[in-house]
This record gives sequence, structure tokens and C-alpha cells, in this order.
Amino acid sequence: METQNIVLTGFMGTGKSTVGRLLAARLGYQFVDTDELIVARDGRAIAEIFHQSGEEIFRRLEAAVAQELSEVTGLVIATGGRLMVDETNAAALRRNGRVFCLTAEPQEIISRLGDDNRRPLLNVPDPVAQIQRLLTARQAAYGRFPQINTGGKSPEQVAHEIEAHCMNETYLPVTHPTGQYEIIVGENLLAQTANLAQIRGPFVVVTDTHVAPLYAARCQDATAVITVPAGEQHKTLASIQTIYDGFLAANLDRKGTVVALGGGVVGDMAGFAAASFMRGVDFVQCPTTLLAMVDASVGGKTGVDLPQGKNLVGAFKQPTAVLADTTTLLTLPPAEFASGMAEVVKHALIASPDLLARLACGDWILHSENQFLLSSLRPLVVEAVQVKRDIVQQDPFEQGRRAVLNLGHTFGHAVEQVSGYAVRHGEGVAMGLVAAAHLSARLGLCDSGLPVQIEGVLQNVGLPTRIPADLSPVSLYQAMGHDKKKAAGKLRFVLLREVGDVFVAESVAETAVLDTLTALQVEGEQQQ
Ligand SMILES: NC(=O)c1ccc[n+]([C@@H]2O[C@H](COP(=O)([O-])OP(=O)(O)OC[C@H]3O[C@@H](n4cnc5c(N)ncnc54)[C@H](O)[C@@H]3O)[C@@H](O)[C@H]2O)c1
Ligand SMILES: [Zn+2]
Repeated sequence: METQNIVLTGFMGTGKSTVGRLLAARLGYQFVDTDELIVARDGRAIAEIFHQSGEEIFRRLEAAVAQELSEVTGLVIATGGRLMVDETNAAALRRNGRVFCLTAEPQEIISRLGDDNRRPLLNVPDPVAQIQRLLTARQAAYGRFPQINTGGKSPEQVAHEIEAHCMNETYLPVTHPTGQYEIIVGENLLAQTANLAQIRGPFVVVTDTHVAPLYAARCQDATAVITVPAGEQHKTLASIQTIYDGFLAANLDRKGTVVALGGGVVGDMAGFAAASFMRGVDFVQCPTTLLAMVDASVGGKTGVDLPQGKNLVGAFKQPTAVLADTTTLLTLPPAEFASGMAEVVKHALIASPDLLARLACGDWILHSENQFLLSSLRPLVVEAVQVKRDIVQQDPFEQGRRAVLNLGHTFGHAVEQVSGYAVRHGEGVAMGLVAAAHLSARLGLCDSGLPVQIEGVLQNVGLPTRIPADLSPVSLYQAMGHDKKKAAGKLRFVLLREVGDVFVAESVAETAVLDTLTALQVEGEQQQ
């Protein structure tokens, strides 16, 4: 992966340049101080620029430098105290950099600045009060980034702390129509939820009865924990009412944040509740299933089921952060882990031949002694979620490209439904991926080796590749007609030309679909 920049912001005297230099040396990155760069570009000292040309010109120079640095990678950037207060500058530097805000108490800032505290800004009778006033004014801007408290620490210690964040956590910025957020993937993130997710006000955690006893206590400082019964059958408006009741009991208002802690069911419901409560409060996703990490938590779709069908009520609600703590996956029931793997394979087929190749070797079955898997969880989640991120960025409201995320799902939903949900979603998707590949090969779109390759990968991650013989092709075909993803009466299928090249076929001949389904069952019977 490309080397993202590390960007340090914060008040003067918090050690951005000193820490930045140390950090750059440790990581082998180049160090840049924006003030120094401005001086080098302009040829005048900062005080002279202010004095001769005025603050506005200085801010323009800052903006130009921010744009310039946002196109380079492998840098540690110490920014001038106000540079990141500007939203445009912050957005530019966040696109390819991870930002940390260094903090310190006013008294410590003054003593660190030494003689320098004669800087014009602090050349006032009560500099402590002045710093306090400025910090309050910038609180909203600085609070957009994780805070690193430098109080009582040496610059080496601070650099080490930031380095640990960068080494242990992968940070994926996501841009959507109304802003930006970050997906952070790493181990033991839940204990730092408020800081990593930049939650400023009070927050409530929404979780389910399985996850609450395991992980709710790790989200320290939550005002309240709202627990709904676990399971898809509780993804209902009644649970939403329970969640609203919890919000009201916790006095949640529009300054508060809702944190979803759980699988896709919790994420969908907490997101919908956050979208609608008081017309919208901030929302953070802490997914604890593989499926939620690589799929449900990203893209902004939220909602509940109605008795008439799945996901019939909902809203687009973008999170302000997604924290995927991979240690939580270790307690997942293995069948749930395998279910998430179906979406991982799907993402690999859509856009990541590398990921597919890796899934073909190694032991991808979850059990407690599987050291191979445990050390591979972060890269697995990162690569799989990146595929979804890239697609939802292109198509935030599901009007085009995002349809490819339904690969394997038209078949998969039919299998789930006709089996009376005896086949779980991930298993259905696995069978659906095989069916999509066989259909593609039957139509001459891909090489006949591709279905075989995909079956090999699915077997290696512990998923089925054959459709149960008691589900008749005709009943499956009929069930597909009820799938909400059909367009204007014709069945649409997502098909493959090769790994990384998938597309939506608008009308596929019924016979080809039926023949594919029949072949997948007949072979299955012969194997048994
Ligand atoms: N919004 C989207 O874009 C999107 C995308 C895909 C799926 N979804 C939705 O996601 C839901 C499925 O999500 P899911 O598969 O995560 O199901 P889930 O939320 O029901 O979780 C599966 C089970 O695992 C338990 N669990 C969760 N985390 C655990 C952990 N760390 N340790 C032990 N047990 C744990 C849960 O309590 C539950 O029993 C569906 O409702 C689906 O519609 C949404
Ligand atoms: Zn799915």
C-alpha cells in the first residue's frame, strides 16, 4: 500500500515540528514544515509576509502549500497552527494523510515556547487566557482529529505513540457527497473509540445481547449502552422504538453521537435510528462481524425489515468514522466468520485478483489456534473493505456501478428464500458466486477455468459451492423474479469476464439460468 502522509496539527508549542522530525526519521519519511515551506517559496520570513502583505496573503500561501502537499506521499507534515482550521486545507491533506492533533495545557505551551512566546499572538498581558481563548475558538476544528496529549511527555515518547498508531492501524479515507470519514482497521481499537472516532460530545452505544457482554465495557465513557435482542428477526421497527427510548432516557440530543457496536443488524438499525432521531445525530460504526467490517458498515445504507420483506425501510446515513477492531472477530461463531468470507470473496472477484490469489492458499477457517488467520485479519479486512469503499465512492446513492456489489446475490437470495432461510446468507452468496461464474462461462463471457478457480477459493474458506438438491431450479428462478434488484421485468445478473472485470447483464435468457442451476445441483448429487 502507498505510504500515506502523517499530518500533525495543533496549537503552537505543542511540538509539531520536533515530534514530526523525530517521527520522519523513525519511519524513513521526509519531513516538511508548512511554515518553512512557505518561507522557502516566498523568500520572506513569516513575520515579514504578515507585515508587508497581510494575513490574507499568508493564508493563500498556506492553501497553496496544502494543495501541493496533498499530491505527494511519504511525508510527515507539521502544519502551521491555523492551517488545518481551514476546511479546504484539512480536506486536501486528509485525502492522502492521517491527521493527529497534538495537545497541551496553556501553561505548558507557554513554558515550551520560552522566549518565543513573544510571538505577536501571545504578546498580551495574560497569555494563558489568550491561549485558552484561541483553543476554545479552534476546538471544533482541532477536534476533527484524534488528539495526542503531549503533556508531561518527551517528544520521543509522543513520536513513538503516533508511530504505534500508524503501524498498528490502517487508515482508509472515504469521500462521500457531504464530506469525508475514515475507516480505521486494527487491533484493540474499541478502548479508544471516542478519540479515534473524534467524538466530541456525549455518545451512546447501541449493541445486541450477544455483543454487549463481550465488548460494551470496552467503549469507555459511553453515556449509555442500549441493548437490543440479537438476530435478523429483531431488525424491526419495534427494536428502533427500543433504541429511541434509550436515546431519550440518556438525554441524547443533536450534539450527541450514536455508536453502533455489533454486526450488520446492529449497524443497520443504529444507523437508521441515528438518521431519524431529532432529524439526524452523528453516527459511528464499530463493526464486530467480518460481514459488517467489509460490507455493511461502509456505504451509508441503513434500515430495518418489515414483515413484508427485508430492508424495506431505511435511509442513507454516512458514519463520521468506522472503527474495525479485528480482535472482536476472534469470538465470532465460525459459521458467522465464514459467512463474512463470502463477501470477502465477492469483493476479491469484483476488483482484487491479489486478494483472490491469497484466499486460494493458507488456512482461512476461524479457530482459536489458527495463527495464520489471526495475523492475516487486518490485511484481509483492509483489502476487502477497500473494494467496497472504492465502489461506493464512485456511486454513493446506488445509481450505477454499485450494482456490481450484488455479484452472486440474485442467486444467493433465491437460495436463502426457497430454503426457508435454512441456508444462511453467506452460504447462499457462495453458491450464488459459483452460479454467476458458471452462467458467465455458459454464455461464453469467461474462461471455463474461472468457475473452477472460484469453487477452489470458496472451499478453502469453508463455504459450500453446490446448491442443495431439494431446491428446484424452477422455484429458484421464480424466487429471483421477486428479488427487488430486478429491472423493468427482466432479470439482471452481475456476471464476470475475469477476476476484476464484472458487469451487469440486463437481460439473460431464462434457459441459460435454469441450465446453470440444474448443472450445479446435478453435480452436487453426483459428488455425494
Ligand atoms: N447496510 C449495508 O450496506 C448492508 C450490507 C450487507 C448486509 N447488511 C445487513 O447486515 C445484516 C447481517 O449482518 P451480520 O452478518 O453481521 O449479522 P448479525 O449482526 O446478526 O451478526 C451475526 C451474529 O453474530 C453475533 N456477533 C456479532 N459480533 C460478534 C462477535 N464479535 N463475537 C460473537 N458474536 C458476535 C451477533 O449477535 C449475531 O448473533 C443483515 O441484516 C443485512 O441486511 C447491510
Ligand atoms: Zn451479502
